[in-house]
Amino acid sequence: MTTDTAAQAAYVVAALLFILSLAGLSQHKTSRSGVVWGIAGMVVALAATVGLASRSITATGLVLIAVATALGAGIGLWRARVVEMTGMPELIAIMHSLVGLAAAFVGWNGYLDVDAALSGSLLAIHHAEVFIGVFIGAVTFTGSVVAYLKLSARINSRPLTLPGKHVLNVGALVAFVGLTVAFVVRPNMGLLIAVTVIALALGAHLVASIGGGDMPVVVSMLNSYSGWAAAASGFLLANNLLIVTGALVGSSGAYLSYIMCKAMNRSFISVIAGGFGTPAAAADDGEQGEHREINAEETAELLRDATSVIITPGYGMAVAQAQYPVAELARKLRDRGVEVRFGIHPVAGRLPGHMNVLLAEANVPYDIVLEMDEINDDFDATSVVLVIGANDTVNPAATDNPSSPIAGMPVLHVWEAANVVVFKRSMAAGYAGVQNPLFFRENTQMLFGDARQRVEDILRGLDALDAPVREMAGTSR
Ligand code: TAP
Repeated sequence: MTTDTAAQAAYVVAALLFILSLAGLSQHKTSRSGVVWGIAGMVVALAATVGLASRSITATGLVLIAVATALGAGIGLWRARVVEMTGMPELIAIMHSLVGLAAAFVGWNGYLDVDAALSGSLLAIHHAEVFIGVFIGAVTFTGSVVAYLKLSARINSRPLTLPGKHVLNVGALVAFVGLTVAFVVRPNMGLLIAVTVIALALGAHLVASIGGGDMPVVVSMLNSYSGWAAAASGFLLANNLLIVTGALVGSSGAYLSYIMCKAMNRSFISVIAGGFGTPAAAADDGEQGEHREINAEETAELLRDATSVIITPGYGMAVAQAQYPVAELARKLRDRGVEVRFGIHPVAGRLPGHMNVLLAEANVPYDIVLEMDEINDDFDATSVVLVIGANDTVNPAATDNPSSPIAGMPVLHVWEAANVVVFKRSMAAGYAGVQNPLFFRENTQMLFGDARQRVEDILRGLDALDAPVREMAGTSR
């Protein structure tokens, strides 16, 4: 068997392993094996690629590949080990930016180093691939960098609303199509520089135009773009595995974006077009009336007298790492005969399934953890709702205020309960940068402070309330 045949066979095996990986990652129970399949696929793919390359490169080239692999693997291992769960979306965004950058470089390389054997229509196709690859790669690169900056709160997450922003986006696309035709007819570096600059600006503008509340969709959309960028590089490098893998990532990312848009009642087209069709809503993060406060002891009393409690966790629970005392609180209340359930919003936290993972980590039984649609009709029959570090996902403005930036997004109807206690540290707005009218409702009370400390205070409060009962039981024995 020649090296080429062996490498192609290895590529088929790697592609199958990647498909198994995606299948495994689609469910909680099988996600670990999904990761293992993915690692195995990547090892096979890398080995085959290096084997193929070794036929035509010098020893220095091989050393450079080894150094690059060691460096990349070292950085990857280091980042994956130190990243906090709450920092995962940023890490993913910055990784996508590298895929985009690599695709743009591959495109430029394809222009600078043209295979002399190409001529006629094959050469024209090659130049179209170069141009499209550079365009998708550059859009993905700057889009991902802006997503990283927004997700890590290094820049404001509010949508950028430049005058005529849609005209700018459409203009950039029209210019891309025109320049592609011109480049295929007469390839030159000026046109390639022009498309690179336009694509870099378009990527940054598309993502900057999208508000914080829609960022989950943007991250999965950039995931999809990075797949298409890789596929474009695959065509240029005549690498079948890169084409297959790029198409897998591109289509699964696009499908995930579509599912998320449906869950958040957003138009898919609007989000991928940088907020096209969304009114330029005025972000309102000012106070909207008087809020009332409650302390941990009073909350413990409220819970002691409750018959049913729903806990709706959000990003703040992850920041405070409050899942352990929250799980303990749920157990304690259930032991007292209170019906306790968790209501999970599909985009609570900063990555899909974020809250489910934290609650599973703290051994909260799966059967009391319900999805938003399963629990939303039950709030009006609930004594107490504990909103633990959630904000946008429980904001009634999404249903009541058509001009809100999060209007139309389905939210947990916590305000329908008899009592709502909101755990947070201040009156600051949530991720989308909009104030939450829930905090000023008559049945809402704010419990300020770090969520973990406040839940621990409540646990102590419940113990203190139980102490006299225990003592009386002791004396009557
Ligand atoms: P957010 O709207 O992000 O609000 C979290 C709240 O937690 C903040 O109001 C903050 O208020 C509070 N908080 C932070 N640290 C805390 C601590 N140590 N103790 C107590 N409270 C603390 O949360 P959410 O309701 O989960 O909504 C998620 C948002 O992120 C949505 O807008 C969603 O679109 C977006 N997003 C989601 C994802 C995915 S896929 N889940 C990805 C990217 C973005 P204080 O600062 O006053 O404490």
